Amino acid sequence: MEGRVTSTDGVKILGLAGSLRGASFNRGLLRAARGVAPAGVELVEFDLRSLPHFDANEERLGDPEPVAAFKQAIREADALLIATPEYNRGTSGVLKNAIDWASRPALASPLAGKVVGLMGASAGMRGTAGAQQQVRDTLGFSRADVLDESVLVPNAYEKFDADGTLVDPATLADLAGLVSTAVGVCATVKAA
Ligand code: FNR
Repeated sequence: MEGRVTSTDGVKILGLAGSLRGASFNRGLLRAARGVAPAGVELVEFDLRSLPHFDANEERLGDPEPVAAFKQAIREADALLIATPEYNRGTSGVLKNAIDWASRPALASPLAGKVVGLMGASAGMRGTAGAQQQVRDTLGFSRADVLDESVLVPNAYEKFDADGTLVDPATLADLAGLVSTAVGVCATVKAA
């Protein structure tokens, strides 16, 4: 709204990483995102390891407890920040499984209308372009509001140190831009 001052204080972001690997580049991206987030923004990670495989029979009996917690965490967040690895030109089974749980009930799921920023780091030269396209299409089906901007990190082994910490200044700047856009969109929505 013109002339209106929006505050980013109290914006809540839920971070999801599609890799379970200890020194994962994508988990490193999420940690780095927390480091560049504006003051007053809360960025917490939900560990996707806790989720069972999607099973429609189980779902019919009621969401298993970790799934219910996951969906509640999405509801309580203003935005999602998702770091996807690329496996065989697509996203990981871990992340796709999580999105499938979160996508229910169709069209009235916690993902509907949720602001989402995408990022991903891969060993290859395309920096998770294939995986991000799959995640974007999948989230679009649930009517999530996926930002046009995203962060692609090719040749990730050159940009992270041995502990999985992002050390590349250009990538850190790209990440700061994405987080700032996501936070700005959320702050504007909250102020409206
Ligand atoms: C990969 N990797 C990979 N990289 C890429 O750029 N494009 C791809 O299609 C694939 N495919 C692929 C399949 C499988 C099964 C594995 C295990 C790996 C390499 C991948 O980018 C690398 O392992 C990253 O380190 C994975 O991300 P995390 O675990 O570091 O977050």
